[in-house]
Amino acid sequence: MEKYKRILVTSALPYANGPIHLGHLAGAYLNADLYVRYQKLKGRQIIYICGSDEHGVPITIAAEKKGISPQKIVDEFHSRNLKAFKQFGISFDYYGRTSSPVHHKTSQEFFLNLYKKNIFKKITDKQLYDEESKMFLPDRYVKGTCPNCSYNEAYGDQCEKCGSSLSPLELIEPKSALTGKTPVLRETTHWYLPLGEFQEKLSTWLDTKKDWKINVLGQVKSWLNEGLKDRAVTRDLTWGVPVPLEDSKNKVLYVWFDAPIGYISATREWADLKGDPEQWKQYWQKPDTKLVHFIGKDNIVFHCIMFPAMLMAHGDYILPDNVPANEFLNLQGRKLSTSKNYAVWLEDYLLKFPVDPLRYYLSINAPETKDADFTWQEYMARNNGELADILGNFVNRTLAFAKKHFNHKVPSRGPLNKMDKEIIKILSDAPATVGTFFEHFTFRKTATGFMDVARACNKYFNDTEPWKTAKTDRQRCATALNICIQACRTLAIISAPVIPFSAEKIWNMLNLEGSVLGQCWDTAADFVIENEHELGDLSILFAKFEQKQIQGEIDRLEKNQESEPDKTETAAGEKTKIKYEDFSKIQLKVAQVVQAEKIKKTDKLLKLTLEIEGRQRQIVAGIAQHYTPDEIKGKKIVIVANLEAVTIRGIESNGMLLAAEDDDGIMSVLSLDRDVKTGANVK
Ligand code: 2FM
Ligand code: ZN
Repeated sequence: MEKYKRILVTSALPYANGPIHLGHLAGAYLNADLYVRYQKLKGRQIIYICGSDEHGVPITIAAEKKGISPQKIVDEFHSRNLKAFKQFGISFDYYGRTSSPVHHKTSQEFFLNLYKKNIFKKITDKQLYDEESKMFLPDRYVKGTCPNCSYNEAYGDQCEKCGSSLSPLELIEPKSALTGKTPVLRETTHWYLPLGEFQEKLSTWLDTKKDWKINVLGQVKSWLNEGLKDRAVTRDLTWGVPVPLEDSKNKVLYVWFDAPIGYISATREWADLKGDPEQWKQYWQKPDTKLVHFIGKDNIVFHCIMFPAMLMAHGDYILPDNVPANEFLNLQGRKLSTSKNYAVWLEDYLLKFPVDPLRYYLSINAPETKDADFTWQEYMARNNGELADILGNFVNRTLAFAKKHFNHKVPSRGPLNKMDKEIIKILSDAPATVGTFFEHFTFRKTATGFMDVARACNKYFNDTEPWKTAKTDRQRCATALNICIQACRTLAIISAPVIPFSAEKIWNMLNLEGSVLGQCWDTAADFVIENEHELGDLSILFAKFEQKQIQGEIDRLEKNQESEPDKTETAAGEKTKIKYEDFSKIQLKVAQVVQAEKIKKTDKLLKLTLEIEGRQRQIVAGIAQHYTPDEIKGKKIVIVANLEAVTIRGIESNGMLLAAEDDDGIMSVLSLDRDVKTGANVK
């Protein structure tokens, strides 16, 4: 942090075409909020900027579906989403919108700056045109068959099945999403950002980012390896920021050109509101600002390649220090689907359940380095077994004891014994230990971090047995209680980023001045509550849930499901027991990798040619983010040899290699520590 004087945090601007669901929260908002709340407690100068992405084809298509204007759609969802985020405790300093005049002006100025520097290529070529609706069909206005995986519902900008990014002309048998008609080709002119010209500069910059998450670096490297291509930054549409050039009627800026500039325009609006209109420049133009973009994995290329290239081309702006992108959140073992209403909507959740149990569960189960699964069962288990039984129980029993035995006041400490010293050490180490997890974006550990401290406190309460010493050794009892009360204060501060509403409740129960938000992280473990301090009223911190409260949610999702659930997993993610006969159906064999190559347009896949007892076979393995082809070549590995063949990205895969992956996303392919011949059976 010493390098930096201030921090600018952004979360991806959500499209204002629908409500927020848990996938959004887990991807780019809760993690950013934890980071911001922590940095504020550290006393750092930081602002948190976000807003609605109100342009682009997702908005106009949503408007067309509902038969209303795009403006109406974005007005509705801008205010609904902002309200839901606030209720969930997402602490934006400013939440803008890309339809604002400041944003239009800022993005037009940005475009013109690059235009005047001759950065863009002006290209006239043929694009898909729908004669019936009389419009060009950019991005999602066209559907067709994916050239990579043959999925027949792929969009003109992306295939949602295999994840590859596409251009409309790559689709096989394209059809207009508006009329279902086959489009014709018609000439049109657009401005392109020649990303290839920035490749070297981007690579050099990205090479310095050794501490970025592996899932992010993996994707970025694969884009760079493929070679960056020109990208059109304008579209033939009427909804969006008009292209500020004479010869550009009915053309707007591409939504992925204007949306990231939305971070800048929202910061401008924040500064205007503060009455210090120049202050946004400190955050965007001073190299001693640390810029951090929180996003989901589908936004990586835009934040790590395209926007940085735009910023480099402009020249007046800083580049992100980090882009800690998250992977996706699944729901009850299946992919979230907004169109099938297979989602948990935040507004709906807020009507039925308290905020903090969800913040806690989504933090401890964040899709940090790989996809994670949300289950209502685990949500309830975490609330009941951890928040209520550990943290809530500790705070409650401490304060209830003080009320009963010490007249609701803080008793004084006497001499310290070994147990006292041990818990004091745990408490005093906690701010630094848990703080490091925030600094390194390992948010799952921030939640386990404070819960481990609460667990140790509970154990301390048990081991010191104050209910016995109350009768036999009053000073010992007072000492233990004093320490427990001070520990409640420490816990309130170090848990505040994750569970701010409950932390505030603890603060009030302790009857401490001000708010937990105004405290100092580094002195969280100082024992500053004075003897005889009068404690506040007790209230339940976390109510336990009963099965019937969550059953309705589970039933609703079951009804909306797309596919059969995975019956081999229990709710806690453990596999159910199987018989040996079942296991013996799987044929595991030793194989040697003789050739390995990356599969084009993918981040994760390698095509491996294996040798088994002199015969060759080919498999596709999802290990490209962890192994280069050279690293895996020559290795002897273990494969499932009798798996039915599948086609992945048009390539046949005849088997599956075995690999271990931990919660930190570290992957290791299973190898052998003696030289066994290929074809050997693994039992
Ligand atoms: O994927 C999305 O939801 C986009 N609206 C994110 C935009 S992020 C930024 F660039 F504004
Ligand atoms: Zn595909």
